[in-house]
Amino acid sequence: MSKTMQKQSINGGSPVRVKPWSAGAFHFKEEIAAVAEALSGPSLPMARGKYVMAYRAMLAKTYGARHVVTTSSGTTAIHVALAAAGVGVGDEVITSPITDYGTVIGIIQLNAVPVFCDVVHGSMAMDAAKIESLMTKRTKVIMPVHIGGYPVDMLTIMKIARKHRVKVVEDCAQSHMTRIGKTYAGCFGDFGAFSTNESKHMKTGEGGFVLCRSKSAALYADLFADKCYHRFPEAPATPAFPALNVRMSDITAAIAIEQLRKLPGWIRRRQAAGLEIECVLSRYPLKSCRRPKEARCSYWWCAFFLDEEERRISAEEFVKMMNAEGIPCWRGGQRLITEWEIFKKLNDNPNYFRNYRPGALRKGAYRLDRWPEAKWAVENIIVIPVNQHTGKSEIRDLDRALKKIFSFISG
Ligand SMILES: Cc1ncc(COP(=O)(O)O)c(C=O)c1O
Repeated sequence: MSKTMQKQSINGGSPVRVKPWSAGAFHFKEEIAAVAEALSGPSLPMARGKYVMAYRAMLAKTYGARHVVTTSSGTTAIHVALAAAGVGVGDEVITSPITDYGTVIGIIQLNAVPVFCDVVHGSMAMDAAKIESLMTKRTKVIMPVHIGGYPVDMLTIMKIARKHRVKVVEDCAQSHMTRIGKTYAGCFGDFGAFSTNESKHMKTGEGGFVLCRSKSAALYADLFADKCYHRFPEAPATPAFPALNVRMSDITAAIAIEQLRKLPGWIRRRQAAGLEIECVLSRYPLKSCRRPKEARCSYWWCAFFLDEEERRISAEEFVKMMNAEGIPCWRGGQRLITEWEIFKKLNDNPNYFRNYRPGALRKGAYRLDRWPEAKWAVENIIVIPVNQHTGKSEIRDLDRALKKIFSFISG
């Protein structure tokens, strides 16, 4: 611990906040009643149950999407979307290096190659201006990740995708009901893939869904997620291509319907809290993360960094001080996944794994100096978690903690 840190913990006295941060329930009596009702029949349906189909219709209405396929998780939603986008062996998918492993699992399982695009300075969003330099004749899909409720510059990405005739799969796992202008993240590209695991804006234990623009892609996605079985009129009579079983159960859908009913109200509360937090941050030498014009973030977290010109302490020291004051926050939000063991191994030996042979992967493809802005971001961007329970008391305590920390630093 540095001298600064020792002084702060000695002089800091009692922490500003001792109460838990943004605590409260996420599941309610409506979810319990819905599960009880779903279980009240003689048995649960295997596939395409009434709750699953009602949930799909509700999602289509909420997002203004033409077609929706439900899945067992966000990871499988992405896997299904990539398969429906036509990704196969040796194809390249351009995506972000700051994300959850779930973003790239599908790429790897399809024996395709993740190509990581650096992020915009001062944000964790992939930099649309850098995409074209990464494109090759094998590029099949661009997969932006809307990280932490902050949208990526979709208008530029869609222009590039149309110019090069590649598909776009948006990873919206952390960005339910995030918008740019009037359009929701997930509705710009050919596919929008979402997760509803217990950390997300709406929670169903595990779960995911894919918004699909084209009917034929939606049919493929539906079949790919359900053993390619003949369960609807357009389906082939017998399994006709390699597929998975990553269906959503009716129990999950029963919970999801109740969560989706509450989601718009919860998003409004997150947005109010996120904007107020950003207003508080702006009174100190802190900068909120960059985002595209007209972005309406849904604040999975609030992301910011120390003003580089006025910086007197490191992000690491700042986080320790905030935590000592009872304000949860951490650096980088998500990890830089290119630093993970799997990419170190593939960097040294593209044939390291027996079950992963994309063929086209070159040695050195995941050299760690390729993403300097992402490296800067995970070391310097700080995130404070936000949810629908984040309110006046959290915002007041954040302000008090920042006042205490910055007067200590300057004083
Ligand atoms: C950005 C991102 N993509 C994909 C996923 C995968 O979702 P799941 O955990 O539901 O498989 C997550 C989940 O944490 C995520 O945050």
